[in-house]
Amino acid sequence: MRAAFLPFHVPDIGDEEIQAVTETLRSGWLTTGPRVKQFEADFAQFIGVRHAIALNSCTAALHLSLEALGVRAGDEVIVPAVTFTATAEVLSYLGARPVIVDCEPDTLNIDPDCIEAAVTPRTRAIVPVHIGGLPCDMDRLRAIARAHGLHVVEDSAHALPAAWNGASVGTLGDLGCFSFYATKTITTGEGGMVTTDDDRWAERIRMMSLHGISRDGWARYTASGSWCYDILAAGFKYNLTDIAAAIGIEQLKKSRRFHDARVAIARRYDEAFGAMPEIQVPARVPQAEHAWHLYVIQLDLDRLRIGRAEFIEALRKRNIGTSVHFIPLHLHSYYRETFGYTADDFPQASAAYQRIVSLPIFPTMSPQDVSDVIEAVTATVEEHRR
Ligand SMILES: Cc1ncc(COP(=O)(O)O)c(C=O)c1O
Repeated sequence: MRAAFLPFHVPDIGDEEIQAVTETLRSGWLTTGPRVKQFEADFAQFIGVRHAIALNSCTAALHLSLEALGVRAGDEVIVPAVTFTATAEVLSYLGARPVIVDCEPDTLNIDPDCIEAAVTPRTRAIVPVHIGGLPCDMDRLRAIARAHGLHVVEDSAHALPAAWNGASVGTLGDLGCFSFYATKTITTGEGGMVTTDDDRWAERIRMMSLHGISRDGWARYTASGSWCYDILAAGFKYNLTDIAAAIGIEQLKKSRRFHDARVAIARRYDEAFGAMPEIQVPARVPQAEHAWHLYVIQLDLDRLRIGRAEFIEALRKRNIGTSVHFIPLHLHSYYRETFGYTADDFPQASAAYQRIVSLPIFPTMSPQDVSDVIEAVTATVEEHRR
């Protein structure tokens, strides 16, 4: 057994990020400015999209995307049961209703058949989440959206870099939303990005991210800026700082290397657990390039004498950190009490929740760290198999 605890995630921050932050701190410009502009340009090029707007979280990105689409009180928006609350909570900000639908049992992504059944005359949009970095079936989702006149906002918080049929995630819907939270595939500590090809939505989001100030409000403190501005709407304070963007620029440069490292870890886990009947490894989908933000195994509880919580505890005792992604939305008090959901509503998501464990998968894991995880999982299965 390993001597030191292996955390579920450790961010990969190098001297480049530290130097970039130091230079920013010395530059005299701390908040939204030239580094944010560069991060946006680099990100837009990386994804292959006309506009990338940096914000201080993916939650802000989701909120402003739906606001730009005109989602308002009384509207319905379809969201998956298996996701983090951010995907759905932003609808409450707008007075709209999150309409939760079930997941596919193998991919854990939103089930397109369930979307069809949930559409009503009040439905305005679908927010698919590429869970763990595995792209949803965007061909089917777009066909459903087209048939019903719905917008698609991709929650791509887990999915950098990821692609569907060779096209980058974040370009497949009307708008894409990315997260640079500390545990994500690239990080700025806290941060987010909206991507879109639509000029009007991009302009609206940019304006609403900084108090509803007309045009580049931040430029008013530069030599070329003017003190004069107008307020066009009651906006929000969602802008990213140049300090965070300086980190993001360096992280983005490394994102392919980070991805290669995660792919290699996923392959080793697949090889180790693929033939174990007690463990279902993550689904592979031929059209999808997986970001491998998460490696989620599903336990076959009929073949084990312990449940998921005890499995996690057994790994913790062997000094391996894990997590659960996610406790489905309909099992949380807020969604039950506000919208009347019950535990029986989404059987696939509820069943998957009992079985899922996220194993560590991050680029600074050494080959020995990966071996330690494999050994701990294997030993736990052997100890508790029926
Ligand atoms: C699926 C999903 N969407 C959105 C978010 C929100 O991201 P952020 O923390 O950048 O607001 C998260 C964060 O964990 C997430 O997992």
